[in-house]
Amino acid sequence: MNSSLIIKLGGAILNDNFAIKNFFNILSSYLQLHNRDVLIVHGGGKLIDQMMKKLGFKIHKINGLRQTLREHINIITGVLAGTVNKTILSYAKQTNINAIGLCLSDGNSINVKQFNEELGYVGLAEPGSDVFLKQILSNKFLPIISSIGITDSGELMNVNADLAAAALAKTLNANLLLLSDVSAILNGKGQRITSINNIEAETLIQQGIITNGMIVKVRAALDVACSLGRPIDIASWQQISQLELLFQGVSIGTRVFHTN
Ligand SMILES: Nc1ncnc2c1ncn2[C@@H]1O[C@H](COP(=O)(O)OP(=O)(O)OP(=O)(O)O)[C@@H](O)[C@H]1O
Ligand SMILES: [Mg+2]
Repeated sequence: MNSSLIIKLGGAILNDNFAIKNFFNILSSYLQLHNRDVLIVHGGGKLIDQMMKKLGFKIHKINGLRQTLREHINIITGVLAGTVNKTILSYAKQTNINAIGLCLSDGNSINVKQFNEELGYVGLAEPGSDVFLKQILSNKFLPIISSIGITDSGELMNVNADLAAAALAKTLNANLLLLSDVSAILNGKGQRITSINNIEAETLIQQGIITNGMIVKVRAALDVACSLGRPIDIASWQQISQLELLFQGVSIGTRVFHTN
Protein backbone atom coordinates (compact mmCIF):
# COMPACT_ATOMS: atom_id res chain seq x y z
CA MET A 1 0.00 0.00 0.00
CA ASN A 2 1.09 3.58 -0.67
CA SER A 3 2.26 5.56 2.36
CA SER A 4 -0.52 7.29 4.30
CA LEU A 5 -1.70 10.67 3.08
CA ILE A 6 -2.38 13.58 5.42
CA ILE A 7 -4.48 16.30 3.85
CA LYS A 8 -4.46 19.58 5.73
CA LEU A 9 -7.55 21.66 4.98
CA GLY A 10 -7.58 25.39 5.68
CA GLY A 11 -10.66 26.40 7.66
CA ALA A 12 -11.85 28.74 4.90
CA ILE A 13 -13.19 25.74 2.96
CA LEU A 14 -16.19 25.81 5.30
CA ASN A 15 -17.27 29.11 3.77
CA ASP A 16 -17.50 27.42 0.37
CA ASN A 17 -20.26 24.82 0.40
CA PHE A 18 -19.61 23.84 -3.23
CA ALA A 19 -15.88 23.28 -2.68
CA ILE A 20 -16.21 21.18 0.46
CA LYS A 21 -18.91 18.98 -1.11
CA ASN A 22 -16.72 18.43 -4.14
CA PHE A 23 -13.66 17.77 -2.03
CA PHE A 24 -15.39 14.90 -0.23
CA ASN A 25 -16.99 13.54 -3.40
CA ILE A 26 -13.59 13.34 -5.05
CA LEU A 27 -11.96 11.92 -1.92
CA SER A 28 -14.68 9.29 -1.64
CA SER A 29 -14.17 8.18 -5.28
CA TYR A 30 -10.40 8.13 -4.74
CA LEU A 31 -10.77 5.92 -1.65
CA GLN A 32 -12.99 3.48 -3.52
CA LEU A 33 -10.28 3.02 -6.14
CA HIS A 34 -7.17 3.13 -3.94
CA ASN A 35 -6.38 1.17 -0.83
CA ARG A 36 -4.79 4.07 1.03
CA ASP A 37 -4.91 5.46 4.56
CA VAL A 38 -6.01 9.09 4.49
CA LEU A 39 -6.22 11.50 7.44
CA ILE A 40 -7.50 15.06 7.48
CA VAL A 41 -6.14 17.80 9.73
CA HIS A 42 -8.01 21.09 9.66
CA GLY A 43 -7.66 24.67 10.76
CA GLY A 44 -10.46 27.10 11.35
CA GLY A 45 -8.79 30.45 10.75
CA LYS A 46 -11.57 32.52 9.29
CA LEU A 47 -14.37 31.08 11.45
CA ILE A 48 -12.33 31.75 14.57
CA ASP A 49 -11.81 35.35 13.40
CA GLN A 50 -15.57 35.74 12.88
CA MET A 51 -16.38 34.39 16.36
CA MET A 52 -13.65 36.47 18.05
CA LYS A 53 -14.99 39.63 16.38
CA LYS A 54 -18.57 38.79 17.38
CA LEU A 55 -17.47 38.50 21.01
CA GLY A 56 -15.51 41.76 20.83
CA PHE A 57 -12.06 40.17 21.20
CA LYS A 58 -9.09 41.75 19.46
CA ILE A 59 -7.24 39.53 16.96
CA HIS A 60 -3.49 39.68 17.34
CA LYS A 61 -1.12 37.53 15.31
CA ILE A 62 2.62 37.28 15.82
CA ASN A 63 4.52 35.83 12.81
CA GLY A 64 1.29 34.32 11.52
CA LEU A 65 0.41 32.66 14.86
CA ARG A 66 -2.71 33.73 16.75
CA GLN A 67 -2.09 35.06 20.25
CA THR A 68 -4.49 33.08 22.43
CA LEU A 69 -5.33 34.52 25.85
CA ARG A 70 -6.97 32.60 28.70
CA GLU A 71 -10.35 34.11 27.78
CA HIS A 72 -9.93 32.99 24.15
CA ILE A 73 -8.95 29.35 24.48
CA ASN A 74 -12.36 27.92 25.42
CA ILE A 75 -14.00 29.80 22.55
CA ILE A 76 -11.36 28.65 20.07
CA THR A 77 -11.67 25.06 21.30
CA GLY A 78 -15.44 25.27 20.88
CA VAL A 79 -15.17 26.56 17.31
CA LEU A 80 -12.30 24.36 16.14
CA ALA A 81 -12.85 21.02 17.91
CA GLY A 82 -16.63 21.53 17.99
CA THR A 83 -18.41 23.34 15.18
CA VAL A 84 -15.68 23.18 12.53
CA ASN A 85 -14.68 19.55 13.22
CA LYS A 86 -18.26 18.27 13.31
CA THR A 87 -19.28 20.28 10.25
CA ILE A 88 -16.42 18.74 8.26
CA LEU A 89 -17.48 15.34 9.60
CA SER A 90 -21.01 15.97 8.37
CA TYR A 91 -19.75 16.52 4.82
CA ALA A 92 -17.69 13.31 5.01
CA LYS A 93 -20.77 11.44 6.20
CA GLN A 94 -22.79 12.61 3.22
CA THR A 95 -20.33 10.84 0.90
CA ASN A 96 -20.35 7.63 2.97
CA ILE A 97 -16.83 8.16 4.28
CA ASN A 98 -16.54 6.48 7.66
CA ALA A 99 -14.95 9.37 9.57
CA ILE A 100 -14.04 9.97 13.21
CA GLY A 101 -13.61 13.49 14.61
CA LEU A 102 -10.58 13.83 16.88
CA CYS A 103 -8.16 16.36 18.36
CA LEU A 104 -4.35 16.12 18.49
CA SER A 105 -4.24 14.56 21.93
CA ASP A 106 -6.51 11.58 21.26
CA GLY A 107 -4.25 8.56 21.68
CA ASN A 108 -1.36 10.97 22.48
CA SER A 109 -0.91 11.21 18.70
CA ILE A 110 0.77 14.61 18.99
CA ASN A 111 2.65 15.97 22.00
CA VAL A 112 1.81 19.57 22.75
CA LYS A 113 3.79 22.10 24.82
CA GLN A 114 3.25 25.83 25.25
CA PHE A 115 4.97 27.74 22.42
CA ASN A 116 5.93 30.75 24.55
CA GLU A 117 4.47 33.08 27.20
CA GLU A 118 3.74 35.88 24.74
CA LEU A 119 1.49 33.76 22.51
CA GLY A 120 -0.40 32.37 25.53
CA TYR A 121 -2.40 29.21 24.93
CA VAL A 122 -0.65 28.38 21.68
CA GLY A 123 0.87 24.94 21.43
CA LEU A 124 4.03 23.66 19.88
CA ALA A 125 3.36 20.31 18.17
CA GLU A 126 5.82 17.44 18.39
CA PRO A 127 5.43 13.92 17.01
CA GLY A 128 3.67 11.53 19.34
CA SER A 129 2.44 7.94 19.27
CA ASP A 130 1.20 6.28 16.07
CA VAL A 131 -0.51 3.40 17.91
CA PHE A 132 -4.05 4.75 18.18
CA LEU A 133 -4.22 6.24 14.68
CA LYS A 134 -2.79 3.09 13.08
CA GLN A 135 -5.40 1.08 14.93
CA ILE A 136 -8.33 3.12 13.66
CA LEU A 137 -6.87 3.36 10.14
CA SER A 138 -6.56 -0.43 10.04
CA ASN A 139 -10.29 -0.54 10.78
CA LYS A 140 -10.91 1.70 7.74
CA PHE A 141 -11.95 4.83 9.63
CA LEU A 142 -10.85 8.21 8.32
CA PRO A 143 -9.64 10.50 11.13
CA ILE A 144 -10.63 14.17 10.86
CA ILE A 145 -8.41 15.95 13.35
CA SER A 146 -8.80 19.47 14.72
CA SER A 147 -5.66 21.32 15.75
CA ILE A 148 -6.57 21.55 19.44
CA GLY A 149 -4.10 19.80 21.73
CA ILE A 150 -3.64 19.22 25.46
CA THR A 151 -0.36 19.62 27.36
CA ASP A 152 0.93 17.03 29.85
CA SER A 153 -0.36 19.26 32.65
CA GLY A 154 -3.83 19.31 31.10
CA GLU A 155 -4.01 22.78 29.50
CA LEU A 156 -5.95 23.13 26.25
CA MET A 157 -3.77 24.61 23.50
CA ASN A 158 -4.53 26.15 20.13
CA VAL A 159 -2.03 24.76 17.61
CA ASN A 160 -1.56 26.20 14.14
CA ALA A 161 -3.02 23.51 11.89
CA ASP A 162 -0.06 23.47 9.48
CA LEU A 163 2.31 22.80 12.39
CA ALA A 164 -0.08 20.14 13.69
CA ALA A 165 -0.25 18.45 10.28
CA ALA A 166 3.55 18.59 10.00
CA ALA A 167 4.01 16.88 13.38
CA LEU A 168 1.47 14.24 12.37
CA ALA A 169 3.28 13.60 9.06
CA LYS A 170 6.43 12.94 11.08
CA THR A 171 4.55 10.70 13.53
CA LEU A 172 3.15 8.52 10.74
CA ASN A 173 5.95 8.97 8.18
CA ALA A 174 3.14 10.08 5.86
CA ASN A 175 2.87 12.15 2.73
CA LEU A 176 1.56 15.65 3.44
CA LEU A 177 -0.62 17.83 1.24
CA LEU A 178 -1.33 21.36 2.46
CA LEU A 179 -4.54 22.70 0.90
CA SER A 180 -5.29 26.37 1.39
CA ASP A 181 -7.42 29.12 -0.16
CA VAL A 182 -4.60 30.12 -2.54
CA SER A 183 -3.53 28.01 -5.51
CA ALA A 184 0.17 28.12 -4.62
CA ILE A 185 2.83 30.27 -3.03
CA LEU A 186 2.71 33.41 -5.15
CA ASN A 187 5.66 35.60 -6.10
CA GLY A 188 5.75 39.40 -5.90
CA LYS A 189 3.71 39.62 -9.13
CA GLY A 190 0.99 37.30 -7.85
CA GLN A 191 2.21 34.42 -10.05
CA ARG A 192 2.49 30.79 -8.99
CA ILE A 193 5.89 29.61 -7.78
CA THR A 194 6.12 26.00 -8.98
CA SER A 195 8.89 24.94 -6.63
CA ILE A 196 10.72 26.48 -3.72
CA ASN A 197 13.55 25.46 -1.38
CA ASN A 198 14.43 26.63 2.11
CA ILE A 199 16.88 29.30 0.95
CA GLU A 200 14.41 30.80 -1.56
CA ALA A 201 11.57 30.66 0.96
CA GLU A 202 13.53 32.53 3.65
CA THR A 203 14.47 35.19 1.06
CA LEU A 204 10.79 35.71 0.13
CA ILE A 205 9.90 35.96 3.84
CA GLN A 206 12.64 38.57 4.38
CA GLN A 207 11.33 40.49 1.32
CA GLY A 208 7.79 40.51 2.72
CA ILE A 209 6.42 38.50 -0.23
CA ILE A 210 5.54 35.49 1.90
CA THR A 211 3.60 36.81 4.91
CA ASN A 212 1.10 35.83 7.64
CA GLY A 213 -0.18 32.24 7.58
CA MET A 214 1.99 31.40 4.57
CA ILE A 215 5.17 31.92 6.64
CA VAL A 216 4.05 29.23 9.05
CA LYS A 217 2.88 26.98 6.20
CA VAL A 218 6.07 27.07 4.16
CA ARG A 219 8.26 26.59 7.25
CA ALA A 220 6.08 23.63 8.33
CA ALA A 221 6.44 22.13 4.83
CA LEU A 222 10.23 22.66 4.91
CA ASP A 223 10.49 21.02 8.32
CA VAL A 224 8.70 17.88 7.07
CA ALA A 225 10.60 17.89 3.76
CA CYS A 226 13.86 17.97 5.75
CA SER A 227 12.83 15.30 8.29
CA LEU A 228 11.23 12.85 5.88
CA GLY A 229 13.47 13.57 2.89
CA ARG A 230 10.65 14.16 0.42
CA PRO A 231 8.96 17.26 -0.98
CA ILE A 232 5.66 18.66 0.29
CA ASP A 233 2.96 20.18 -1.92
CA ILE A 234 1.04 23.36 -1.20
CA ALA A 235 -2.08 23.81 -3.35
CA SER A 236 -5.72 24.84 -3.06
CA TRP A 237 -8.89 22.95 -2.22
CA GLN A 238 -10.46 25.28 -4.81
CA GLN A 239 -8.73 23.39 -7.67
CA ILE A 240 -11.53 20.84 -7.78
CA SER A 241 -10.83 19.38 -11.21
CA GLN A 242 -7.25 18.63 -10.16
CA LEU A 243 -7.77 17.26 -6.65
CA GLU A 244 -7.52 13.64 -7.79
CA LEU A 245 -4.13 14.39 -9.37
CA LEU A 246 -3.01 16.03 -6.14
CA PHE A 247 -3.98 12.95 -4.12
CA GLN A 248 -1.88 10.90 -6.54
CA GLY A 249 1.11 13.16 -5.89
CA VAL A 250 1.07 15.38 -8.98
CA SER A 251 2.17 18.93 -8.15
CA ILE A 252 -0.21 21.64 -9.34
CA GLY A 253 0.64 24.29 -6.76
CA THR A 254 4.04 24.80 -5.15
CA ARG A 255 6.38 21.90 -4.40
CA VAL A 256 8.50 22.58 -1.32
CA PHE A 257 12.01 21.03 -1.14
CA HIS A 258 14.65 21.16 1.54
CA THR A 259 18.26 21.54 0.43
CA ASN A 260 21.30 21.45 2.72
N1 LIG B 1 3.35 34.76 -1.03
C1 LIG B 1 2.12 34.29 -0.72
N2 LIG B 1 1.48 33.47 -1.58
C2 LIG B 1 0.25 32.99 -1.32
N3 LIG B 1 -0.44 33.29 -0.18
C3 LIG B 1 0.15 34.10 0.73
C4 LIG B 1 1.46 34.62 0.51
N4 LIG B 1 1.78 35.40 1.57
C5 LIG B 1 0.75 35.36 2.40
N5 LIG B 1 -0.25 34.59 1.93
C6 LIG B 1 -1.53 34.37 2.62
O1 LIG B 1 -1.52 33.09 3.23
C7 LIG B 1 -2.90 32.69 3.32
C8 LIG B 1 -2.99 31.21 3.64
O2 LIG B 1 -2.66 30.97 5.01
P1 LIG B 1 -3.80 30.99 6.12
O3 LIG B 1 -3.13 30.65 7.41
O4 LIG B 1 -4.58 32.25 6.07
O5 LIG B 1 -4.80 29.84 5.65
P2 LIG B 1 -4.75 28.27 5.87
O6 LIG B 1 -3.48 27.89 6.57
O7 LIG B 1 -5.04 27.64 4.56
O8 LIG B 1 -5.99 27.99 6.82
P3 LIG B 1 -6.03 27.81 8.42
O9 LIG B 1 -5.13 28.87 8.98
O10 LIG B 1 -7.47 27.94 8.74
O11 LIG B 1 -5.52 26.44 8.73
C9 LIG B 1 -3.46 33.10 2.00
O12 LIG B 1 -4.86 33.25 2.02
C10 LIG B 1 -2.74 34.41 1.70
O13 LIG B 1 -3.52 35.50 2.10
MG1 LIG C 1 -2.93 28.85 8.44
